[in-house]
Amino acid sequence: MTGTASPAPRRRALPVVGATFSYFNDPLRMMRAQYDACGPVSELNFIGGVSTVLLGPDACGAALQNKDKALANEPGWGELVGPFFDRGLMLLDFEEHHRHRMMMQQAFTRPRLESYTAAMGPAVAAGLDSWQPSRSFLVYPALKSLTLDLATQVFMGGAELASPGELEQVNRAFVACVQAAAGIIRRPLPGTRWGRAMKGRHLLEEFLGRHVAAKRAGGGEDLFSVLCSLRGDDGEGLSDRDIVNHMIFLLMAAHDTSTITVTTIMRQLGVHPQWRAQLRDEAAHLSDFPTLDELDALESFDLVMKECLRLVPPVPVLARRSVKETEVLGIRIPADQPVAVMLHLGHHMEEYWPDPTHFDPDRFAEPRREDHGHRMAFHGFGGGVHKCIGMYFAGVQVRAIFHELLRTYKWSVPAGYEWPLDLVALPFPRDRLPVRLEKL
Ligand code: HEM
Repeated sequence: MTGTASPAPRRRALPVVGATFSYFNDPLRMMRAQYDACGPVSELNFIGGVSTVLLGPDACGAALQNKDKALANEPGWGELVGPFFDRGLMLLDFEEHHRHRMMMQQAFTRPRLESYTAAMGPAVAAGLDSWQPSRSFLVYPALKSLTLDLATQVFMGGAELASPGELEQVNRAFVACVQAAAGIIRRPLPGTRWGRAMKGRHLLEEFLGRHVAAKRAGGGEDLFSVLCSLRGDDGEGLSDRDIVNHMIFLLMAAHDTSTITVTTIMRQLGVHPQWRAQLRDEAAHLSDFPTLDELDALESFDLVMKECLRLVPPVPVLARRSVKETEVLGIRIPADQPVAVMLHLGHHMEEYWPDPTHFDPDRFAEPRREDHGHRMAFHGFGGGVHKCIGMYFAGVQVRAIFHELLRTYKWSVPAGYEWPLDLVALPFPRDRLPVRLEKL
């Protein structure tokens, strides 16, 4: 802190509830109004407390760089996703985070990704084969179930680990945790999502904990086995408890984010059949179960995925809390204050993205490269030391799903379809995205 920092500006708002309703109503509009009135760093009365909000690429970029280590993840995210995702990598800070991150990066190297890709192909094909074409096929729940099955297969080793019945129980426990983390009531009241989620967390801990010893001994290729084999510079591995915590968090981190990404792409390809045809042609000559190299080479798909992550970032806001007084762009942030890093607005600012609500994948292609307009204008996977560790894994998974989808089905949405996107927590379509799905 330099001592010359200014206090954060604040807009007049309703007492107690502050900007809560306008955020729940239309988050992007509320963020833009806040930015226009108060600039990139300001304070907001939200859900009964004061938070610092960071808007636009300069402020968000500075927070992600976190040069003076004043912003911490655990006290920020812990309020929202704890206790169900306790001590996952995203909820560790500073030296401890660094030590775990260094080890876990070994689980996401290229050779590891090649082996996850090999396990993914058959699982994707089996999952999509069970879809029933219909005039009103609900995409979102079908994709949720698909990505969960993929996680069970690729992360845990699937049938090698447990019977279908037990895996189903594990999936249900996991879904209970995800639902409670996104819920409004954040107390252990009887009959609430919270109570079900606590039971779910215990079941997951017991289930995964019971398999650690066998996974350590087995030398398997799934992510669970790989985590069990990791070693730090000092030769020490992760404790059984750390492995369980990381597994539960990884399942969560991979699930809703991949689901909404695939859902957004399906929606846009349903509206823009010319792009669907272009992607199908691009993927037509790939093998039945494409390798990592083959999936990597899908250039048009890369543009479409980036544009969809820009339009609907699966994690639109990052949670932090200041552990000491600091400043961002010359504005003071007091110690022990919630800080919301609102990535979403930067993806929709006309200053960087002409016609920002329009689906236009070529904006990411040469010579336009609108994503180069500002180093931090596009950050769907975050940035700095907490940047998504599963970024390449996510790309492979989404490509593998579309490779199979595009050669098996065609789909469309009614002309003029506008989806009711709920952006209050992690984004999802309230109508679950009904499409007309036909087999090719
Ligand atoms: C399209 C899909 C995905 C998106 C958009 C996404 C987005 C993000 C973002 C924005 C962060 C930063 C959070 C922060 O700074 O507070 C993050 C962190 C993280 N993501 Fe992802 N993610 C995706 C998929 C995945 C997958 C598939 C995995 C695992 C296989 C994963 C694992 C993680 C982990 C472990 C972290 C914490 C990293 C750390 O704190 O060092 N994510 N993700």
